[in-house]
Amino acid sequence: MSATADLPDGLVQGLHHITLVTSNEEVNRRFYTEVLGLRRVKLTVNQDDIFHRHLFYANEKAETGSAITFFEWPDLPKGSTGLSSPHHLSYAVSSLEALSKWRNWLRSKGVSVTGPFARDGRVSLYLRDPDGVIVEITNRNHEGITQDYLRELQRDTSPVAAIDSEMRFTRFDHASPVTLNPDVTVRFLGRLLGLKNLVKLRNPDQESTSIVGVGREEQGDFLRYLASPTAPLGEVGTGSVHHIAMAVEDEDAQETVLKRLNSFGVHNSGVVDRFWFKSLYFRDPDGNLLEIATKGPGYSADEPLEKLGSRLVLAPWLEPRRLEIEGALSDLDASNARSWPPDFPAAPSPPESFG
Ligand SMILES: [Fe+2]
Ligand SMILES: [Fe+2]
Repeated sequence: MSATADLPDGLVQGLHHITLVTSNEEVNRRFYTEVLGLRRVKLTVNQDDIFHRHLFYANEKAETGSAITFFEWPDLPKGSTGLSSPHHLSYAVSSLEALSKWRNWLRSKGVSVTGPFARDGRVSLYLRDPDGVIVEITNRNHEGITQDYLRELQRDTSPVAAIDSEMRFTRFDHASPVTLNPDVTVRFLGRLLGLKNLVKLRNPDQESTSIVGVGREEQGDFLRYLASPTAPLGEVGTGSVHHIAMAVEDEDAQETVLKRLNSFGVHNSGVVDRFWFKSLYFRDPDGNLLEIATKGPGYSADEPLEKLGSRLVLAPWLEPRRLEIEGALSDLDASNARSWPPDFPAAPSPPESFG
């Protein structure tokens, strides 16, 4: 009997959301909506720090696996990537042509972008958001693509007037945390969550490191760890990934994970009600904060799909404190004004190297 034979198949179904830290709501919102074409699907506060915002952006239908969320913490120092502070995240697009359009669109907006690069069946562009977060834009399923073809893509410099439907991000492709020992990580994620090691390859961007992809056949390797025995310790701060959430179907599936964590003695938060979903937090062996979140009730639980994110919404238990919260947020804005567009940071090069 394998180590995961007692876990239901498909317990964890890919990514649910990825949460990061931004230093400024306005610059963050304008970048993720006007430049990257997502929509704001929830404007609320951090339930663990209620006088600071929690911002959610996602695809048009606010689907599971498409939401990037940010805690606005202007006073936090800049973060650094490494152990416990994941390196980058990647959004998927549906065609190679979309990558070419993205490159030209981003450049027209003053955003520095590198690529396309081909690795492991994926073709990707890379940029940094205004806080310095590395964002990859990926199209999958291109085994054996030639550098000539990529050069051809780069030659296309046709102007792009607007983000069209082909360019829209469909969902996350992967998140890339950092690990010291991928064998330990693979065993941990296999035994606790039933995930599989699908890929292991030398990192073309950094010879001394490897890429270890973990996931399941249906979604592919949605966690692509960057592995090095000398990986530095990272620090969560502005411009870094705070945690990575994976999706489970419902509360029963979440309960299965909770029992599993407890039976293996993995310290965890227990189930926390976030109103739009239920959450369960724990750390992997390298200190990366992971979350298991239920698909429901979903972002439409308190506002209609077409109006998502249009006003400040609070979980019902915070509603009695609305005036106090709104006052604190306007004080925060008054002391944290920024101009748009910002000076965009240079794109990472080589994009998937660290430390
Ligand atoms: Fe990547
Ligand atoms: Fe989360």
